[in-house]
Amino acid sequence: MSEKFSRIKGFADFFEPESLAYTHIEANGRKIFSRYGFQELRTPILEYTALFQRGIGTETDVVQKEMFSFMDSKGRSMSMRPEATAGVIRAAIEAGLARPGQVSRLFTWGPMFRHERPQKGRMRQFHQINCECLGTESPYADAELICMLLAFLKSLEIRGLTLKLNSLGCAKCRPHYHEALRKFMAGVPRERLCANCRRRLETNPLRLLDCKEAECRSLLQNVPHLEDHVCSDCREHFETVRLLLERRKIVYEIDHYLVRGLDYYCRTTFEVTSDDIGSQTAVAGGGRYDGLAKQLGGDDVPGVGFACGMERLALLMNEISAPVPDFFVIALDDSVRDAAFELSEDLRDANFSGEMGWQSTSLKSQLRQASKTGARFCIIIGSDEAQEGSLTMKDMRDGVQEKVLQNRVVSWLNDKLYENK
Ligand code: HAM
Repeated sequence: MSEKFSRIKGFADFFEPESLAYTHIEANGRKIFSRYGFQELRTPILEYTALFQRGIGTETDVVQKEMFSFMDSKGRSMSMRPEATAGVIRAAIEAGLARPGQVSRLFTWGPMFRHERPQKGRMRQFHQINCECLGTESPYADAELICMLLAFLKSLEIRGLTLKLNSLGCAKCRPHYHEALRKFMAGVPRERLCANCRRRLETNPLRLLDCKEAECRSLLQNVPHLEDHVCSDCREHFETVRLLLERRKIVYEIDHYLVRGLDYYCRTTFEVTSDDIGSQTAVAGGGRYDGLAKQLGGDDVPGVGFACGMERLALLMNEISAPVPDFFVIALDDSVRDAAFELSEDLRDANFSGEMGWQSTSLKSQLRQASKTGARFCIIIGSDEAQEGSLTMKDMRDGVQEKVLQNRVVSWLNDKLYENK
């Protein structure tokens, strides 16, 4: 017996109408992002593992436990991208688009891969739509990017979202916060922290704020706020971002615990969350990453960006209905099947959509087939019609039939389909 294959856990197939949601998200993204001057970039799925280690950080969960990595035949470690930012910056550096004094706005989308425990809204292959603005430290870029993200989400008619903001400070002021955090943590019994937090305490103390364990959360209730330790430049930067958003009447919450799971962030960080998609509430996340290009071997070019999880967007969107085909051509017998084939092709050349019946089955069964496709009109061709040079047009909505000359069919269909548009 031959083996039956099934898809890999955490990987999905998308048929219509689900797949239409992704096409719709991409089309809306392209429309909104291009209004802001963003240009499309497509990067490879596979990159050297070191890019992600260096970019995302060796101490992050993504790099430590979630990457799909393998050795190539020359013994080099490769990884399926777990996110897009590191690859986009690598590509921009290589293409000379990450130079001081030059602003580059790039968007990209596609599959990402993280070996996480699959659940609703969390897959091992998932899709992101991703925007990066390189080359400016200006808080106007942060505010503009957040406005663009919200305009994009609005275009998808997604409601009930919460925007959360925080500032993570910069390389200059972060050490002061680490110090305050360490002092605070000295008074917290280590044995009450989860294993992850005990490790983070040594390797990446900022991530302590991100722990979802109830016990750790309660121990960190009175943790010092980053906001109280950022330098005056960072404070001013964040205040400008907030002011610009407020001027646009954008409602946001300050979340002192929002540190994000990737190590490249500094200054503004943000997330958009929803309570309507189960426990994986983050629909989009992003922030500023001013040291990343340098970290990846490029010039010291600042940047800010975000990514939306397309699976999560699809969960929040109304179902997109498939377009209705215009016609279904029925050949009443084999003598007119070639004519039916010709007619179907001519109609597609004239921009109509539809199928033809290939089999010599009864009219009734072909009509059933036509109605399954959802076609608006059935076009019936028999030997009488072939002799007369006519066609029988059946409106599948009301069952009304009409004879139409073959050489008039294109204008007849145009009148019927578009008369009210
Ligand atoms: P992230 O927060 O890791 O950020 O991911 C962004 C979004 O991708 C999340 O908010 C979520 O919607 C979606 N996502 C993440 N993991 C999964 C998963 N396993 N299954 C389904 N959806 C998922 C980044 O990736 C950054 N590169 C964003 C960024 C761009 N920051 C600056 N520029």
